[in-house]
Amino acid sequence: MKLYIAEKPSLGRAIAEALPKPQKKHQGYIEIAGGDVVTWCVGHILEQADPDSYDEKFKKWQLEHLPIIPNQWQLKPKYKTKSQLAIIRKFVKQCSQIIHAGDPDREGQLLVDEVIDYLNVTSQKRDSMQRLLISDLNLPAVKRSLNQLQPNKHFIPLSVSALARSRADWLYGINLTRAYTIQGGKVGYQGVLSVGRVQTPILGLVVNRDKEINNFTSKPFYEVLAHIFTPSQQQFTAKWQPSEACQAYMDDEGRVLSKGLAENVVGRISNQPATIDDIKSLIADFAKAAENAIEAGFDGVEIHGANGYLIDQFLHYAANERTDEYGQTPENMARFAIEVTDAVINAVGNERTAIRLSPGAYFNMEEDKRDKAVFDYLLAQLDDKKLAYIHGGIFDDSTQFDSLEGKTTSQYLRANTKTSLVGVGSYSFDDAKQAINNDQFDLIAIGRPFIANPDYISKVANNEELVAYSDEMLAKLF
Ligand SMILES: Cc1cc2nc3c(=O)[nH]c(=O)nc-3n(C[C@H](O)[C@H](O)[C@H](O)COP(=O)(O)O)c2cc1C
Repeated sequence: MKLYIAEKPSLGRAIAEALPKPQKKHQGYIEIAGGDVVTWCVGHILEQADPDSYDEKFKKWQLEHLPIIPNQWQLKPKYKTKSQLAIIRKFVKQCSQIIHAGDPDREGQLLVDEVIDYLNVTSQKRDSMQRLLISDLNLPAVKRSLNQLQPNKHFIPLSVSALARSRADWLYGINLTRAYTIQGGKVGYQGVLSVGRVQTPILGLVVNRDKEINNFTSKPFYEVLAHIFTPSQQQFTAKWQPSEACQAYMDDEGRVLSKGLAENVVGRISNQPATIDDIKSLIADFAKAAENAIEAGFDGVEIHGANGYLIDQFLHYAANERTDEYGQTPENMARFAIEVTDAVINAVGNERTAIRLSPGAYFNMEEDKRDKAVFDYLLAQLDDKKLAYIHGGIFDDSTQFDSLEGKTTSQYLRANTKTSLVGVGSYSFDDAKQAINNDQFDLIAIGRPFIANPDYISKVANNEELVAYSDEMLAKLF
């Protein structure tokens, strides 16, 4: 008889649902057709023994006892879940095979392993234990997991790490609580001074924050806003970003406290033409963002140069009205995209840098026949930079653009770059496969089908039917 031990009743029920019928539900377990049994823990059903279980003398709190470090660690059943432990004990004896179905994290691993340890299961049964890993309670996902059992032995290190955490908590909590309480008593404090490995540092954060709030005195700070008009009389407001040199006049949160400094800036910028220094700081922001992404563990970064976003606005005549070195000619209009790309490459390396581009204007922008020359120039420049890939930016890659001489986004990009190309835009898996086989692009990006099917990859792999995307799904996502 096989015995499944789940972490909690809901998981036990989901496992039973995927096993043969008919089944019989009992208090604390489910009997499966053919005699197998599914039972469960109720979270931790064992807990660390108190110090006086190790030695009677620890009933009294004395400084001389500290530190208390058990030689042979003991667990004891939790009072509330004793009956569930008895059920597990009964079936562990009767069964020929145990299947561990704790949650797939270190705590879940320990939770069942410690029960098996506690019940003195024979070494032969313990060695043959299997591990069932379930992270999704949907029936097809549970069925798949049941076909992918692994030897439980492979997960011993996970269990040991959870055990180390729980013992560290005990050692820290018991010993420091006793030490602080005894010392507190000596100076007249009557209560228990409870110290915990997690609880105490968090309490410290709260107390320090409270102190800061109590000691806070409000000070006025100053911002400078510039109301700027473009040559076509569009107006926007820009906020002054103080430079490093202003730090001596700022508080911890970067606010300027000196009225004189703010007034000085107002005097210097009033009625002056806006300059392009902003562009340099924007480029530095892109590089910093890329650096942060890699530091945070990303494999690479894709520069967003598509679909009407900032970089794309520089690349199209309909949006780019600049009269400086970032506007009017293909070389100038491509300059911002190239400078951002160079800065990002400099920060994280060319093999980790990619860019997304929409050569056909369609997103909040009018098409302009002159745009093609900008992209021809930009793509030729990018080829030398050996980027990881270029990604098309389009919702439907069957759209043909007059400005690209009737080509689609991927057709135009394929013809004009040697860099690896990621295709996108209303592709089904089969269409994408065919396009890759026909060498139309090298990789495919799938967007909306993924929103509708978070398990898209496994569904495609198993030839399962896909849920159709609809915009209403977005309301549920956010
Ligand atoms: C909700 C939603 C948000 C999107 N946001 C962006 C975006 O911010 N920038 C962008 O370039 N494309 C955006 N896209 C476009 C997708 O990246 C992709 O090009 C498009 O959905 C076509 O691919 P698909 O047919 O596989 O979904 C978005 C698409 C959807 C559905």
